[in-house]
Formats: sequence, structure tokens, C-alpha cells
Amino acid sequence: MEAILLAAGKGTRMRSEQVKVLHPALGFPVLGHVLETLARLGVKAPRVVVGTQAAEVRSFLKQADRLLKLKSQAVLQKEQKGTGHAVQIAARTLRKARGEVLVWPGDMPLVRAETLAAFIREHRLSDAKVSVLSCVMAQPEGYGRVLRAGGNFIGIREELDASESEKRIQEVNTGIYLFEATALFEALGKIKPNNQKGEYYLTDTIEILSVAGAAVAAFPLARESEGLGINSRTDLAEVVRVMKDREIRKHMENGVTFESPEQTFVAPDVKIGGDTVIYPWSYIERGVRIGRHCQIGPFAKIRAGSVIEDGAVVGSFVEINRSHLGRGVLAKHLAYLGDAVVGAGTNIGAGTVTANYDGKNKHRTQIGPKSFIGSNTVLIAPVTLGQGAKTGAGSVVTAGTKVPSGQVVVGVPARPLKKVSERKRK
Ligand code: UD1
Ligand code: CA
Repeated sequence: MEAILLAAGKGTRMRSEQVKVLHPALGFPVLGHVLETLARLGVKAPRVVVGTQAAEVRSFLKQADRLLKLKSQAVLQKEQKGTGHAVQIAARTLRKARGEVLVWPGDMPLVRAETLAAFIREHRLSDAKVSVLSCVMAQPEGYGRVLRAGGNFIGIREELDASESEKRIQEVNTGIYLFEATALFEALGKIKPNNQKGEYYLTDTIEILSVAGAAVAAFPLARESEGLGINSRTDLAEVVRVMKDREIRKHMENGVTFESPEQTFVAPDVKIGGDTVIYPWSYIERGVRIGRHCQIGPFAKIRAGSVIEDGAVVGSFVEINRSHLGRGVLAKHLAYLGDAVVGAGTNIGAGTVTANYDGKNKHRTQIGPKSFIGSNTVLIAPVTLGQGAKTGAGSVVTAGTKVPSGQVVVGVPARPLKKVSERKRK
């Protein structure tokens, strides 16, 4: 199956200097969430139509490709003349396609892979040349409406072009379509910009095909919440709410406690083990792995690429970034651990900071198991602390330091603490 993702529009209604599809939802661009779903559906090389801030979108695509093992191909739409125009340009790279073409707008991140798979099955059971994923909405304002005659799907009318009675229709177009490639190519050639906006509308392909005698179908989503798209900042906030609620519910079903789900943020693609307790105002980004019997928060931020093993505590006002915390590590209050590996059973004192960034590069901190990092220690990376090492309160361990196993270092800059017997000898 080929796929075309639409991501060239500016997103005027966002009132932003940044292109809409790069706005983050739970720490990951909206476009990334859609790509992740496409990857889960087994799409390997989606065509992504870029235009507004094309360089920025392309550079995110490279990053996403690495992360999601995709080979997306950016296709440039120089001027944004509408969704139909965007698909026309992408379709030029698909001339040889004979199978199915999925079209997905980059601002619709909530439709799940399972839902899409069911939609694809329905399409294949029908004789339709194109199927539209529709959605019945309590408040359909802003979306294209699904037109039916005697129950049969006949077309889509955009809000701006709709009559008063058409505006009352509650079934809307999600903007996700599955086309037979040849029917798509044929219909694309016939779109005309005769509408209020003067744009080439992809939605017109439905009427074109239907008038030409081809079967067209619209299958409504079972859950209205999946059909939410992002046009404004209000929509973005609503999408984040739905996304995080859905993830948290899944974790609760798997045996994770959330003391206050409303006040907690968990991105998709996070794994949390049973009997872990997440306290409010915690923010957990995608790709994070948390073990069993952990305690997280309140007010913890765990960023992408972090692993927290069983029984660890990441307490209040602690930020963990691209770091690995071994079993039973305690970082209970006020700490920042970035690019760090912390061995099992180590205690991270309040106020511990890994200074992992020198203004140019990020550096690693390695702390052995059963170590004790005193309050307010600054670890200027790269540093290594052996098993059972200790730092005194307020010590500053300078870059390049290797603290041997069992050694105690203190002061600024931190140096080995001499035993009383050694001091007397001098
Ligand atoms: C579109 C649909 C509408 C549907 C809604 C669902 C059309 C004409 N209307 O409206 O029926 O209910 O989506 O979300 O298709 N884009 C480009 N190039 C362009 C224009 C848009 O790549 O020239 C991209 C945008 O970046 C965006 C997507 O296409 O990701 C949809 O565009 P948008 O302007 O948001 O369309 P809607 O007005 O929401
Ligand atoms: Ca939209």
C-alpha cells in the first residue's frame, strides 16, 4: 500500500510562525504521531507533501525515519493550492502504482492503527474505488460534510461552500481516504478550483468518481474522539488531552496507578511496569521505559530515551533525560540527570545536577552501583564514578574525572577525602 501524507499547509488558524505539523503534542511533533501510526500499519515509504518551512519539515522527517524505521520521501508543493493540488503533486511520484493509495492529512494524529486496519478491511469488502473515513460529530463546524442521497454517499461539501441545511449534517470527512490508484489518478485530472477558497479540493474527487459511475463509500469511525483534527491551538490542546487520556487508561488497565490521571501527561509509545505509581503533574515523553514498582513524581519530567528500572524512585522536581537508572535507584528530590547511566541501588542526593552540555556537545556521566551522590553535587560530564563511590555535599566533580570504586570525593573541585590516619601522618 502506498501512502500520501499532507503536510505542506501553513496552518493559518494556528496563528504561529511555525508550520502546523511541527507543533509538538506531548513532546513529539504532530506529524511524527501520524508517521508512527503509518509505520505501525506497515507503510514503508510514505510520500510526504512539504511546502511551508519545507527545510524544517524535511529535517524532522530524517529524524523520524531513523526513529520509526521508515523511508519517507518528501515531495515539494511550492505553492499551497489546496489538498487536491498537494495530492496531484505526490501522485506524480506514484505513476506506476496499481494498488491502493492511502491519503492522510498531517494534522489528524488521533486515528489509531487498529482503526485504520478495520477501515482498510471494510474498503476491501466493498466494491468502492474510494473509501472515506468519516466521523459523526456533535460539533461538526469547520469540517467538510458527508453528503448522502437515500443513504448513499455522493460527495463532500466544505463548510464555506455549504448551504444552511448542509451545515446541519453531522457526519464529517476526516480527510483520510483509501483510493484505488487508477481511480485516484483519473479523478485528480478533473478537479477544478471552483469553490469559495479558489483551491483544488481533494474532496471533489468523490463527486467526480461517483458521477462517473464508480462506487464510493464512507465508513464512520466508532469513536468520535479519533476524528479530531488540529486547525487551531484549541484543537491542539484537545488532541493532547485525548491522546494522554487514552495512554493513561491503557496503563491503568495494565496495573499502573495514577493518583490523578487528569494532572498527568504520558505520550504514546511509553512502557510502564505493574504496580508503579505515578503521582500528579508528571510528564513522560515517548519512548520512555519504566519498570515495575517504581514511584514517579509528583512533578517529574522523564524525557525521550530514558529507562527507569524496577523499584526506582524519580521524585519531586526531578528531570531525567536520555538516561538509564538501574534497579532501586533513588532520585527523590530536585535533580537533573542527562546522558547519565546510574548503577543499581545508587542514591542521588537532592540538588544533584549532571552538567552534560558544554555549550557545544553533550557528554556522558557514569555512576556505578551502590554509590552515594551527596546533596548539591555537580557532575561536570564526562565523569565516571566507580561502584560504591561517594561525593560530599556541594562537591563539584570536574570534567574528565574518574572516581575509583569506593572512593569519597569532596569539595570544589572535588578531590579524594583523606582518611584521618593519613592526615595525621603528614
Ligand atoms: C480538510 C478537508 C475537509 C476535512 C478536513 C479534516 C479538503 C478540501 N477539506 O479541510 O473536508 O473535513 O480536512 O481534517 O480537503 N495541505 C497541503 N497543501 C495544501 C493544503 C493543505 O499539504 O495546499 C495539508 C495541510 O498541511 C494539512 C492537510 O493538508 O495537513 C489538510 O489541510 P487543511 O487546510 O487543514 O484542511 P481543512 O480545512 O481542515
Ligand atoms: Ca485540517
